[in-house]
Amino acid sequence: MEIKDKVVWITGASSGIGEALAYAFANEKAKVIISSNQSKELEAVKLKCQSFNTEVTAVCFDLIEQESIKQAVEEVLAQYGKVDILINNGGISQRSLIRETPLEIDRKLMEINYFSGVYLTKLLLPSMIKQKQGHILATSSIVGKFGFPLRSAYSASKHAIQGFYETLRFEEKENNINVTIIIPGRVKTNISINAVTKDGKTYGKMDDGQNDGITPEKSAQIIIKAIKKNKREVLVGSNELLMVHFKRFIPALFYRLASKINKT
Ligand SMILES: NC(=O)c1ccc[n+]([C@@H]2O[C@H](COP(=O)([O-])OP(=O)(O)OC[C@H]3O[C@@H](n4cnc5c(N)ncnc54)[C@H](OP(=O)(O)O)[C@@H]3O)[C@@H](O)[C@H]2O)c1
Repeated sequence: MEIKDKVVWITGASSGIGEALAYAFANEKAKVIISSNQSKELEAVKLKCQSFNTEVTAVCFDLIEQESIKQAVEEVLAQYGKVDILINNGGISQRSLIRETPLEIDRKLMEINYFSGVYLTKLLLPSMIKQKQGHILATSSIVGKFGFPLRSAYSASKHAIQGFYETLRFEEKENNINVTIIIPGRVKTNISINAVTKDGKTYGKMDDGQNDGITPEKSAQIIIKAIKKNKREVLVGSNELLMVHFKRFIPALFYRLASKINKT
């Protein structure tokens, strides 16, 4: 797939994987729309994208607010008339036990990680179907393939992503809508620092595993390659990705290893 001049909208583009993707698409001379909830960080990413001499637009909104999502889509369609590639990437993680986590936290994670992308997809799909072309991506996680301690709602939101986008692929193939699910393992970003705890505060720590992850730049390269090849799923990471294969092909080994995971 040719990326030059395509209109690409990336959520969660103020840092980490989304930020690296913004630069990678700008480098490919796509028309890049970047979104997140913090305008200062987003403006800094926009400036850096502009150094690649391509068109960049920053649209700031909160993924938890349905009305803001609708307004953002109206703004983008008014400016560009279409979106060729939508990357539902924005999200937050979690560090709390099920028994200690109030339901509002579960709902918050589902809203930000799952429903925001569902709504963006539903709002943009009609224009993609009309032009008989589009590519929708969503960032899941390896914990969208299995459960993991302290990440119950996070893992659930990523499992939901798997089900929704796989269904989307089946339903809209006839309209030439491509769907790719991004499955990161460990990428060195702020995801653990920004993770939500049982009292709704941020966790504030870089996990050791996170710190050892691949760089966001490397992850962006892998994702762009997968888009060009129209992959159904793309695993992004290093040795930790083996757990996905173990769960699928050697489940007994997976459960033995997973039961040793530290729960604190
Ligand atoms: N890093 C990993 O190892 C890893 C592993 C598996 C999956 N993932 C997934 O990869 C995606 C990107 O995460 P990352 O690792 O790049 O972490 P990150 O650096 O913390 O980036 C998260 C992005 O999501 C945005 N975001 C969070 N809450 C938002 C809200 N309410 N409204 C609008 N934007 C919001 C953040 O922007 P603002 O804070 O500026 O709003 C930021 O741009 C996430 O879906 C994450 O679950 C990451």
